Amino acid sequence: MKLKILVTAGDGIGPEVTNEAVAVLREVAALGGHTLDISAKRIGGVAIVLDGSPLPAETLSAALDSDAVLLGAVGGNEFNSLPPDKRPEAGLLQLRSALGGFANLRPAFAFKELAVNSPLRPEIIDGADILFVRELLGGLYFGQPREWNRAKGEAWNTMRYTREEVVRVARIAFQLAQKRRKKVTSVDKANVLEVSQLWRATVTEVATEFPDVTLEHQYVDAMAMHLMNQPRNYDVVLTENLFGDILSDESGVITGSLGMLPSATIGGKVNLYEPVHGSAPDIAGKGLANPLGAILTAALILRHSANLETESAAIEAAVRKVLEQGFRTPDLARANAQGFSVLSTTDMGAKVRETVKAMLVNVGTS
Ligand code: NAD
Ligand code: IPM
Ligand code: MN
Repeated sequence: MKLKILVTAGDGIGPEVTNEAVAVLREVAALGGHTLDISAKRIGGVAIVLDGSPLPAETLSAALDSDAVLLGAVGGNEFNSLPPDKRPEAGLLQLRSALGGFANLRPAFAFKELAVNSPLRPEIIDGADILFVRELLGGLYFGQPREWNRAKGEAWNTMRYTREEVVRVARIAFQLAQKRRKKVTSVDKANVLEVSQLWRATVTEVATEFPDVTLEHQYVDAMAMHLMNQPRNYDVVLTENLFGDILSDESGVITGSLGMLPSATIGGKVNLYEPVHGSAPDIAGKGLANPLGAILTAALILRHSANLETESAAIEAAVRKVLEQGFRTPDLARANAQGFSVLSTTDMGAKVRETVKAMLVNVGTS
């Protein structure tokens, strides 16, 4: 198997965590005799500084010419005064749009080893296993018109969806639910917004194609609370772009840290893989970043872009094993949780590599 991966590490902790994810991928590929063609290009703040654009043409064409793109994170405080279309984040949004993936899968899996590291009580989060399906190319992020009219002292964005945009992402959510616990919770604000009424009506219509899957609707405000009170109640959570952005970060509380969450964006020309977290300027360059979200993202590349289920599952099992052995990055080492070995970003990456290697060698010889 040969896989061409473009790495766009970006800013802040982006390069720190993607280095570890790439090293795990290389280890797993070497063990299985798979060829990885991995190259790197700039995106985000670093590209603004060195190339004058958050998404240089060279990066975009390399991305379109790959089997998968692995992105670290973009953004930095020095760019905060720029308008949205000039910021590092604009480079990521342009890349998402060009690659065309509209279904952003954000699994939030509560490793039981991390129950003690969450501020929620273990009995609340034990067994939580949610798959957020976040629509990624519509809504407020891309809707027109949008403007900050300084003269008028007025600004506006547009939350817009077409029926087709909802149908295509809803189908993916239902198909994924069929392979899981057969429940879809669609999240909207249909008590206030027309766009959510279209969303709800369309999702209800798509549900008729999947009679084996149960559909329920929730308003986003209530859902934010339910997620913390009873996360085990949810299987697939389908929602629009901004609501999905917010709820997926919230689910970092269920998993013990935002740094644990991976994502895969499918449905377009080239799949895009990114951990859910950002560039974390507050901890960048200090070896404090948790690389496990990025490493679990690498596992999603092998699952969704290479059909290497054994290798993908081995990475996930290795992450669990390392947690079971008590290794933690500082974000996971809460004050009330004693007895852990706290590792740097690179040491955590090395632990996972060592563990996944032992696992795959055992599989190979058994
Ligand atoms: P953030 O996700 O970068 O950080 C939020 C908090 O979580 C911080 O305290 C940070 O230290 C912590 N954190 C995040 N990832 C971590 C990890 N892997 N290990 C340990 N701790 C981690 O969000 P923010 O601070 O709101 O945003 C910072 C910048 O990142 C902004 O410019 C934002 O636009 C950008 N951002 C980019 C992406 C992306 O490129 N995919 C995603 C989200 C935010
Ligand atoms: C995410 C991020 C991005 C988003 C930003 C950086 C554009 O927050 O991937 O969750 O809002 O989609
Ligand atoms: Mn986000």
